[in-house]
Amino acid sequence: MVILPRGVRHMPGHLPPELQRELVEAIRGVVRRAPLYVPTMPKTGKEMSVRMTNCGTLGWVTDKDGGYRYQPVHPMTNEPWPPIPALLLSLWREVAAYPHLPEACLVNFYEADARMGQHQDRDEADFSAPVVSVSLGDDCLFRIGGTRRRDPSVSVRLTSGDVVVLGGESRLAFHGVDRIYPSTSALLKQGGRINLTLRRVSAPPILAL
Ligand code: SIN
Ligand code: FE2
Repeated sequence: MVILPRGVRHMPGHLPPELQRELVEAIRGVVRRAPLYVPTMPKTGKEMSVRMTNCGTLGWVTDKDGGYRYQPVHPMTNEPWPPIPALLLSLWREVAAYPHLPEACLVNFYEADARMGQHQDRDEADFSAPVVSVSLGDDCLFRIGGTRRRDPSVSVRLTSGDVVVLGGESRLAFHGVDRIYPSTSALLKQGGRINLTLRRVSAPPILAL
């Protein structure tokens, strides 16, 4: 048991196996329409080790010239992203405690040697909405710290079906994936790990009374 930073909610096994299988099928459908591609880092153009795609009205992308951003179309096909599967919208309603739906779902695919360096999710306009993350497939070692890069961090092993909510004080916490534990799940036939992160990107409409 580790003590997680304030505002982080880790819900182990929140999605039962049947829903995990249903979600994998839905993500296969997303990837057929919006193929996984190799994202590159701003300025250096260095390739990331994960493969990415998105669903939703907006998707998070990065490349050498354009940097980190959200856009309504896939960077390779120029087609709109497919919609966010209903199951994920239900999960958001259940756990986000936020009155508007997510606009983006980033799909990260990790092979055995992929990782994700420590970073903040800060390209969104409304930090009062949490980031909701779902793990599918092989386990990983997830590490999360504070809002400054030098803050101490804790490591937690995430397993298929786990949901993590980064909200409140942890919304801008540095986090990343230090390693994948290959062959720890039979959910994905070819192995690997899928992480889905649901995000509200735009500030919600201001309602006049
Ligand atoms: C991310 O921060 O974009 C991914 C986190 C994860 O893979 O669990
Ligand atoms: Fe992130």
